[in-house]
Amino acid sequence: MIFVTGGAGFIGANFIMNWLLQNDEHIVNIDALTYAGNLESLSSLQNDTRHIFIKGDIGDTTLITELLEKYQPRAVLNFAAESHVDRSIHGPETFIQTNVVGTFHLLESVRIYWNKLKEDSKTNFRFLHVSTDEVYGSLNKNEPAFSETHRYEPNSPYSASKAASDHLVRSYHHTYGLPVLTTNCSNNYGPYHFPEKLIPLVIVNALASKALPVYGDGQQIRDWLFVKDHCSAIRRVLEAGQLGETYNIGGWNEKTNIDIVHTVCALLDELRPRHDGKKYCEQIAFVADRPGHDQRYAIDAQKIERELGWKPAETFETGIRKTVRWYLDNQNWVANVQSGAYREWVEKNYTV
Ligand code: NAD
Ligand code: DAU
Repeated sequence: MIFVTGGAGFIGANFIMNWLLQNDEHIVNIDALTYAGNLESLSSLQNDTRHIFIKGDIGDTTLITELLEKYQPRAVLNFAAESHVDRSIHGPETFIQTNVVGTFHLLESVRIYWNKLKEDSKTNFRFLHVSTDEVYGSLNKNEPAFSETHRYEPNSPYSASKAASDHLVRSYHHTYGLPVLTTNCSNNYGPYHFPEKLIPLVIVNALASKALPVYGDGQQIRDWLFVKDHCSAIRRVLEAGQLGETYNIGGWNEKTNIDIVHTVCALLDELRPRHDGKKYCEQIAFVADRPGHDQRYAIDAQKIERELGWKPAETFETGIRKTVRWYLDNQNWVANVQSGAYREWVEKNYTV
């Protein structure tokens, strides 16, 4: 039995589905169901007893303590977070609350539980914290990619809150001996990605004949990884990662934002051409830049490749094609997100 927090979000939901495809170890999924939590993404597991959903906050120590005592997990994987940079600029407080204070409370609950475990279980227990490359700040064009020893230089309230949580996790290892692992991954894309983020937003807006907003000059660079590859890396780190270590995860896929938008438009031109015969890229609109916009992220993934033998399975070309296809084939999921109907899914389908 393992615990996953934030398992109704984009990466957590993909992780749970992938996990249960590979083995039968049960998952308790604890998610507060914020706007980003969508249980409809997990509808394929509705009658699957290996997935136990609990609506709850990682900061609720009473609840988390009760659940730890009841289910006795061998690992806690923390995906729960506020994750959108733009939202952190408009309202940083929830980011501090969940990413910093919430992670702290979760660590405390886990530490107390872990301390009471028998020696064997104590040794084998893992707390895996899912974090981001944004904690390292921004690179110039010619600087080497982020390695695990790059200094932390977060530039947005989001990345600062994730950096703080990484430090707390580290401190629980050094101070209390909690067996922790931290992963810092680059930009993910793939199925079930909430359409506030660049790739799903462009797909959804293009199909709805809306503008495709590109911040500033569109020359900022992100390093893209297909979400299933992030999930396989997390599984690998959980299985074989060295305690107290951090692992950078990335797919060596640096692209400018404008290239990403053009790639998505070209795939849509091929797979679902516009009725008026025009190209989707005609919908591109350059808009005001994001304040404090990081210029470039790039992950040096050599450590996880060398020490744990992990490599991504998808190239950007195969992954982005699968992603666009998925959005075309799952218009209902998109429509329910846009109308807000996904939030009723809980009442209709789950007792929480
Ligand atoms: P997401 O916003 O799609 O999902 C976050 C989930 O956490 C949601 O289901 C939400 O309901 C839940 N949640 C929020 N606050 C909570 C709380 N207080 N208690 C319990 N649950 C809560 O995010 P995502 O893109 O799936 O990211 C998951 C994790 O991976 C985050 O920690 C993020 O920082 C990290 N990460 C994301 C990316 C990316 O490209 N999306 C890349 C690297 C790392
Ligand atoms: O690097 C990992 C991070 O990637 C994760 O930690 C975050 O949780 C995740 O949201 C993502 O952050 P970004 O800010 O890089 O992702 P986003 O999709 O919001 O934006 C990607 C790039 O596209 C960024 O340079 C801003 C730009 N952008 C974004 C949006 C939403 C646009 O040009 N237009 C847009 O409308």
